Amino acid sequence: MSRLKHRAPAGSSDALRLESVSRVYGTGAGAVRALDDVSLTLAPGTFTAVMGPSGSGKSTLLQCAAGLDRPTSGRVFVDGGEMAAGSEARLTRFRRERIGFVFQHFNLLPMLTVLQNVTLPLRLAGKRIDRARCRAVLERVGLGDRLDHLPSQLSGGQQQRVAIARALVTEPRVVFADEPTGALDTRSARDVLGLLQEAVRSYGQAVVMVTHDPVAASYADSVLFLADGQLVGMMERPGAEAIAERMTHLGDEVARRRVTAGA
Ligand SMILES: Nc1ncnc2c1ncn2[C@@H]1O[C@H](COP(=O)(O)OP(=O)(O)OP(=O)(O)O)[C@@H](O)[C@H]1O
Ligand SMILES: [Mg+2]
Repeated sequence: MSRLKHRAPAGSSDALRLESVSRVYGTGAGAVRALDDVSLTLAPGTFTAVMGPSGSGKSTLLQCAAGLDRPTSGRVFVDGGEMAAGSEARLTRFRRERIGFVFQHFNLLPMLTVLQNVTLPLRLAGKRIDRARCRAVLERVGLGDRLDHLPSQLSGGQQQRVAIARALVTEPRVVFADEPTGALDTRSARDVLGLLQEAVRSYGQAVVMVTHDPVAASYADSVLFLADGQLVGMMERPGAEAIAERMTHLGDEVARRRVTAGA
């Protein structure tokens, strides 16, 4: 069983808690255990990177933790509330109130302007559209002068900053990002990482980011390592070189585990 805990200040509620979460895709001989009994606790105001080989379950972990997919077993808590069991509508409402998500390929709606993309989560949640606040969030990501542009009129880095503004506008307790810098050049990647850091430092949000890039991971306060669906390690405030080194050995560790497990 994998158990890792980030220390939270006494009395504060956890931003995210996973209790023995597993996700199995398919059934019978073809079943894939993408997540295998993962437990973890993240405090508010922490920036966590998730790394691991391709197919190790990183995206599955994020999807289950963000309520975009349902675990086969185990429980997920966000900001002290359990991820709603039951109807799809309840789960959707829970997600809209507590969670922001940033994707590798931005996932902006092409027919909507920058401002409309950012106000959309408020619209969907039936909340009052505070245009001044939406503008302020777009100022924060450096796009205050692009409100009426369409996504196709922006660079990749700018589109990802719109996506970050969209994720932050509802003031979620936890922001998940799956390879948010994967499609960006170095400079744009740095901007995006800086914005995620700011969400943590200035706004106390918890950010969980999947990345393959040790430099991107080094922006986080801690790095979790996944292999074969299990949490196999953690580093606190590591540098990029130490992370890269650990990733190299992770391959050996996985091979050893498989031999030991007789796979
Ligand atoms: N919808 C699905 N149906 C069946 N198997 C799936 C599904 N989604 C993921 N898997 C399997 O679950 C395992 C974990 O996949 P996941 O996408 O979480 O990996 P990942 O660590 O994000 O990989 P990558 O770095 O390539 O994005 C893989 O073996 C994958 O093939
Ligand atoms: Mg993935």
